[in-house]
Amino acid sequence: MPPAALAPVTEALLATSPPAGLQIKATDIAAGMVQLYNATSAARKWPYTATAMDAQKLDFADKTFSHTFLSFGLPIIDDPVRAAKEMYRTLRPGGTAVTAFWLQIPQGECAQETRCAVYGPDARLAVQPKPEHKDRDYLRSLLVQGGFRFQDVQLHEKSAFLPVRSLDEFALAIWSALGVPPGGWTQHDEDTWDAAVAKYKELLQKRSGFRVDGQGNITLEAIAQVAIVRKTRE
Ligand SMILES: C[S@@+](CC[C@H](N)C(=O)[O-])C[C@H]1O[C@@H](n2cnc3c(N)ncnc32)[C@H](O)[C@@H]1O
Repeated sequence: MPPAALAPVTEALLATSPPAGLQIKATDIAAGMVQLYNATSAARKWPYTATAMDAQKLDFADKTFSHTFLSFGLPIIDDPVRAAKEMYRTLRPGGTAVTAFWLQIPQGECAQETRCAVYGPDARLAVQPKPEHKDRDYLRSLLVQGGFRFQDVQLHEKSAFLPVRSLDEFALAIWSALGVPPGGWTQHDEDTWDAAVAKYKELLQKRSGFRVDGQGNITLEAIAQVAIVRKTRE
């Protein structure tokens, strides 16, 4: 059950030369993400399609999957424990679940910080992870509340480095994509747009993970935590 998107999980699975007959069921709650996956899949002539489905209430029978992947989603789902329970329920005994999320993601955290700095401490983004996502025990605790055993969870960390060619263009692009408040952009957002983009640019340069080398090249370091767990109970 790899959630849909530009299909990086499907791509990674196929790169491992999996056995013939592999079936993949991709899901995401957002119709746009499902369409994106299906467009990618069709362009690559894959026999896989995505469907719109809530990870908190999957339409799959108990013990359907040998593997489950929930990438970069659990801490932004309303009730992540319900989603972890669904991962557990739909996984066969002996199967493996993999879930990843960011411990550090400067461009995303900066969008939250900017919204609060410009619009007040209670201001929120339409999509923002639970604050516990920075806690190294959080993903494992969600999996354990979902039914997996604590000692079966392996935790790994991996950095991803994003080069930023133009800070101005980057600030504008990321604020446009992530800065949106719950319910969508408002006239007040329009009126304060330039101040918000300028604040984003200012705050990004102070975040952990923002690096500039001797030639002025900017890189953002994001740190992902990957949790891998086997279902060792019936
Ligand atoms: C950061 S994106 C990750 C997308 C994709 N999994 C990837 O790794 O490229 C988080 C995704 O979680 C989806 N999402 C949020 N709540 C969800 C839910 N309750 N059920 C299923 N998907 C959900 C969003 O629509 C969004 O596409």
